[in-house]
Amino acid sequence: MEFGALTPNGEKSRRPKDEWLENSWHDLMARSKSSHRWLQEHVSDPYVKQAQKDGYRSRSSYKLIELNEKDRLIRPGMLIMDLGSAPGGWSQVAGKLVGEKGRVLATDILPMDAVKNVDFIQGDFTDEAVVNQILEALNGAKPDLIISDIAPNITGIESADQGTSIYLVELALDMVRRVLKPKGNFVVKVFQGTGSDAYLKDVRTSFEKVSVRKPKASRPRSREVYVVARGFKG
Ligand SMILES: C[S@@+](CC[C@H](N)C(=O)[O-])C[C@H]1O[C@@H](n2cnc3c(N)ncnc32)[C@H](O)[C@@H]1O
Repeated sequence: MEFGALTPNGEKSRRPKDEWLENSWHDLMARSKSSHRWLQEHVSDPYVKQAQKDGYRSRSSYKLIELNEKDRLIRPGMLIMDLGSAPGGWSQVAGKLVGEKGRVLATDILPMDAVKNVDFIQGDFTDEAVVNQILEALNGAKPDLIISDIAPNITGIESADQGTSIYLVELALDMVRRVLKPKGNFVVKVFQGTGSDAYLKDVRTSFEKVSVRKPKASRPRSREVYVVARGFKG
């Protein structure tokens, strides 16, 4: 219908432009409310405050710290691969725990400032050329542990976001199957939803023991959980 056209009963129609404006306004209000809520939560979040005090680049660091305390994943001298590492909170934790004799190979599509004991490759993990670059950097070495906190940029279209996030964790599992040391461990963030149960089943086929964890630093309303898979069957 054209703008301002008459309806069959002779009344002036609601103009689509007005509807569009109204919808956009509602959308904007909803988004600005949720941004406002996020900002309020962020500034009063104890993990954000603690991260600032401890010099961690992200509150995510505490998720890995908690997972490590529970599952004893990281030891000095280990080689660790960190997928989706920017801004570097997990790399900081892992780099510190592996120490001078260990190494972390981190990768992200975004840039990341240097971290002690950590090598970084910037690139899109869905790009085979980047995967090859990561494999080259390993130079035949097999990581003891692969950690993945990789998460796509959220578009707001839930089914698309879930699809992309499952695709990324599947790629992480491919990497695990290519390079992880036999008996090695794998930690991966998974968003619960379509495809997550099938993914968990798939992980179970390659590991002796698989647990699903929700660290305290993971926001309760987030659908993210962490799959801790131990004892790679090789
Ligand atoms: C939750 S953040 C990781 C936070 C990090 N573990 C930390 O502690 O600072 C998820 C990361 O996944 C990365 N990511 C998303 N899609 C990617 C892709 N296709 N290739 C590489 N990294 C990707 C994002 O750039 C983002 O930095």
